[in-house]
Amino acid sequence: MKLNGRTILVTGGSAGIGLAFALKFVELDNEVIVTGRRRAVLDELKAKHPKLHVIQSDVADPAQIAALAARVKSEFPKLDVLMNNAGILLYKNLKTPAPDLAGLMDEMNVNVGGVIRTTSAFIDILTANQGTVINVSSGLAFVPLPAAPIYSATKAAVHSYTQSLRFQLEEAGVEVVEIMPPAVKTNMTAEFSEGDGVPLMTTDDLVKRSFTSLAAGDVEIRPGQSNQLALMRRLAPGFINRQLWKASRKLVPSGAE
Ligand SMILES: NC(=O)c1ccc[n+]([C@@H]2O[C@H](COP(=O)([O-])OP(=O)(O)OC[C@H]3O[C@@H](n4cnc5c(N)ncnc54)[C@H](OP(=O)(O)O)[C@@H]3O)[C@@H](O)[C@H]2O)c1
Repeated sequence: MKLNGRTILVTGGSAGIGLAFALKFVELDNEVIVTGRRRAVLDELKAKHPKLHVIQSDVADPAQIAALAARVKSEFPKLDVLMNNAGILLYKNLKTPAPDLAGLMDEMNVNVGGVIRTTSAFIDILTANQGTVINVSSGLAFVPLPAAPIYSATKAAVHSYTQSLRFQLEEAGVEVVEIMPPAVKTNMTAEFSEGDGVPLMTTDDLVKRSFTSLAAGDVEIRPGQSNQLALMRRLAPGFINRQLWKASRKLVPSGAE
């Protein structure tokens, strides 16, 4: 993937992995727009990094995605990279009825609906500009973390969708890249402890490894433990599935939430 001189939209780029990628893209001389739901966080970010463009937008809301697409196409007609990064993770107890059946789909709406809808809303400009889609899934697309069952299912869905997208866009000249991070130290993993046998990569390390792979032209990037999960899923699926259950069991909430 060409890594400079591009115009890049990063959904959920106001914190964590998305922000780390956004800042690296700025450093490499790209025009970068980040989105997030919280206005105050975006304002603070803009004050700290004036080169970043910030737009408040929620990927779970189709109307907000449509408004974002209209605004970006008009203000940034050279947009040629979409990084679908926004995501949420919730620990779930599947043994009790959920008090809120609509809320039970929150991760699906953000992690899957957000990726599919945002890609669709931007596909015309990405095709016109011979662009790149970068989808952020997870190593958990290969092996689920049973304490986060819906999250894991969303990442398997994004992995599958991304493979189909890559084939469909091949002849249109739109490159499709998937970044499948391992456990990374961000707000999302605040409840994780390294003592449980799941090492946490820093965002700096993730960016370093991912950009080396992006520069090399890789389209499915599995840094660190994600590659081991891909391998173990084939060599010893029963073993690795149980290992992730053991590592995450204590994160299952006591009641349905
Ligand atoms: N951390 C990990 O271990 C890990 C591992 C593998 C994959 N990933 C994936 O990497 C991506 C980023 O995760 P992270 O660890 O950086 O999480 P994070 O630190 O919690 O940051 C999430 C970012 O997404 C934004 N966001 C959340 N919901 C959104 C929505 N509905 N619409 C727009 N923006 C939204 C957040 O801002 P607001 O809250 O203000 O909206 C924030 O900027 C996710 O897709 C995640 O699944 C993470």
